[in-house]
Amino acid sequence: MNKIKVGIIGTGSISNFHTTSYQALDNVEIVAVCDINKERVEEYSKKYNIPKVFTDYNEMLKMEEIDAVSVTTWNNGHGPIAIAALNAGKHVLCEKPLALNAKEAEDMVEAAKKNNKLLMVGFVRRFGENTKIVKEAIDNGELGNIYYAKTGCIRRWGNPGGWFSDKSRSGGGPVIDLGVHMIDLVRYLTGKPKAVSVTASTFNHLGMMPEIKGINKYYSADYSTFNDVEDCATALIKFDNGLTLFFETSWVLHTKKDELYLNVFGDKAGAQMEPAVEFYKSKNNYFTDAAPVVDPAKFSFEYNFQEEIKHFIDCVANGTPCLNPGEDGVELMKILDAIYESSKTGHEVIIK
Ligand SMILES: NC(=O)c1ccc[n+]([C@@H]2O[C@H](COP(=O)([O-])OP(=O)(O)OC[C@H]3O[C@@H](n4cnc5c(N)ncnc54)[C@H](O)[C@@H]3O)[C@@H](O)[C@H]2O)c1
Repeated sequence: MNKIKVGIIGTGSISNFHTTSYQALDNVEIVAVCDINKERVEEYSKKYNIPKVFTDYNEMLKMEEIDAVSVTTWNNGHGPIAIAALNAGKHVLCEKPLALNAKEAEDMVEAAKKNNKLLMVGFVRRFGENTKIVKEAIDNGELGNIYYAKTGCIRRWGNPGGWFSDKSRSGGGPVIDLGVHMIDLVRYLTGKPKAVSVTASTFNHLGMMPEIKGINKYYSADYSTFNDVEDCATALIKFDNGLTLFFETSWVLHTKKDELYLNVFGDKAGAQMEPAVEFYKSKNNYFTDAAPVVDPAKFSFEYNFQEEIKHFIDCVANGTPCLNPGEDGVELMKILDAIYESSKTGHEVIIK
């Protein structure tokens, strides 16, 4: 069996999930790894037994044997690296957000088309069992017409610092980091409607609050306290199928506890996807709740990544149609661009 040969570009936290998921597949071999941090990439290659090590992705992309790459760098690397990889004839799995903005994301999709290669965006939560359960119910018509959705990812304190809080490298704060997942899930569940208008506010009143004590904190690999991104945001997003979505997110907020929620409301039933899957409807004139019974192991981050990587390799090896094409990343970036623009202008933004 000819193995699919893969390269990893960016060897920070999330790349570990890509690497272990590839290495769990019989038909894949990771042949090269790259990071601008020499010490980090050398240690990584030893840990995972990856033969070739690079600090310049252009050098790595010269390796003809590489079929596909994962791009797991800071957000500002996604566009240039993915385009270079596609132009070098490689298939690309790019972490979310696809790019810093919609224009850059469109250029990536163009490069994929021009080179007839796959560009898949790492919307990993689409592969979660909870997503699959709710999507199946929606696709089977059990919820009817979905007219309202609400989703939020709220952290009382959760700014990882480093590149995450440096707009030139991240493109923004919790909107682009957390919101990208939540808004994408609502689009994905409801048949990928296109957003037509956005009214939003982003705030930067609290900053990073690095002085806070007494809690467990997550810091990025190259931590610093430089911070020029929003700490909180809220938006009302309308879609071309009549759906209205309320969205909120924060990295720092004076609230009691962290929250993760996603609800969709249809004219036959409603569903909650986060924090746990539940369905709500009326039965025999009683409001009735139902929760599916599922093995808890299927609700893990590891499971989602394994499913995502399996799908990417299936697309590359067998030409299976991709569930997460680059075009979906473009649609998301249009919404995120509109959130930042609406906040800046104080007006509703119409998406053409
Ligand atoms: N899917 C998810 O749920 C999820 C979760 C966390 C992070 N992410 C995404 O994954 C990406 C990486 O996040 P992370 O938490 O692993 O960050 P990280 O800081 O831990 O790792 C990023 C790595 O990329 C390297 N890098 C930066 N620019 C590079 C370049 N031009 N060439 C080679 N290497 C370069 C850095 O040196 C660093 O080692 C981000 O885009 C982030 O949004 C996705």
